[in-house]
Amino acid sequence: MIPVITIDGPTASGKGTVAARVARALGFHYLDSGALYRLCAYKALKEKIDLTDESALAQTAAHLAPLFEDGKIYLDGEDVTDKIRAEEVGVAASKVASLPAVRQALLDVQKRARRLPGLVADGRDMGSVIFPDAPLKVFLTASAQARAQRRFNQLKEKGIVANIDTLTRDLEERDRRDMQRAVSPLAPAKDAKILDSSELTIEATVGQVLQWYRSLTK
Ligand code: DC
Repeated sequence: MIPVITIDGPTASGKGTVAARVARALGFHYLDSGALYRLCAYKALKEKIDLTDESALAQTAAHLAPLFEDGKIYLDGEDVTDKIRAEEVGVAASKVASLPAVRQALLDVQKRARRLPGLVADGRDMGSVIFPDAPLKVFLTASAQARAQRRFNQLKEKGIVANIDTLTRDLEERDRRDMQRAVSPLAPAKDAKILDSSELTIEATVGQVLQWYRSLTK
């Protein structure tokens, strides 16, 4: 069986960074499932597709042909690595992700990412829906304040001035939408290990996941 480590959790919990580092440490593939929803949202915004038009958005999702190469993401030949990280795209992604037909359209591409020697998958429903048989499931959380502070620092590094209260409010609103949707809501899988990273460095968080994984495979 091809091993999978799932890392789910709310927005700005550090999942992406932690998952990519765990994958690198183990020589595993890495699936950034949020990028798929972001790509779908980006294309919908670009093509002015109504964000409530479920069947049009499912068509868009089904025909996405992104290329993931050397840490970059290309869509229809365009480098969209940074563009899909824009707040506007994140908000649209959260709306698009609440539509069952869109989630269905993205099922196969996610399952196909499970290849030898193994996969680290990051998202919201990796452990609960996509890879329910994963031997290690992590639910990575952090307080809204800690997550807002991290996002603030990230934006600052890019020279973008943000307001911490607005960021906190946006995060909480996004959490609410991700947790309350009818399909695949953000929630830990029953057998997930909860990891609160509010007070942890990235290295310590990565170290904990690796330790859990190694203790499983010993
Ligand atoms: O992890 P992220 O911020 O890049 O995800 C963008 C949006 O996609 C987020 O609002 C929730 C949604 N998402 C999801 O519903 N299921 C996943 N497996 C990954 C992301």
